[in-house]
Amino acid sequence: MFHTIHYNGTREENYQLLIKQLAALLEGETDQIANLSNASALLNQFLADVNWVGFYIWKEEENQLVLGPFQGLPACVRIPSGKGVCGTAVADKQTQLVDDVHAFPGHIACDAASQSEIVVPLLKEGEVFGVLDIDSPSKSRFDDSDKEYLEKFVRTLELHL
Ligand code: SME
Repeated sequence: MFHTIHYNGTREENYQLLIKQLAALLEGETDQIANLSNASALLNQFLADVNWVGFYIWKEEENQLVLGPFQGLPACVRIPSGKGVCGTAVADKQTQLVDDVHAFPGHIACDAASQSEIVVPLLKEGEVFGVLDIDSPSKSRFDDSDKEYLEKFVRTLELHL
């Protein structure tokens, strides 16, 4: 059973606790859908001021991302490499931190409420496995500290994919 924890520390301490929770939640489990589902639920209860948290999975043979486990409104299912924020993260293999999605060329609006976004690529043996995508209804919701800790979160998750 998952016990709700109050994140009372500094932002860094809270993120460190979150990553420990993730490791505990995934320990001994290798099912990808189960682990991605729990990772999205864990992030959703941790992060304030977000309206969508989830994963897109890279399909090499189709050269596109396909929607994976998430929390939020129903979303667009397929995103080609290089398209939108998610497709750019795949093409560049780099985290995309977008303060204003309306200023991002080619941004794909799945939820009209989204104003800012962070997308972190997931890698497996150096190749893109998918992306973690988080949307916020506030502009400039994510900063370099979120980027640093969400990348650490993803590094832990990758050990269980
Ligand atoms: N905004 C993303 C699409 C996915 S939704 O935000 C869930 C993009 O531009 O790639």
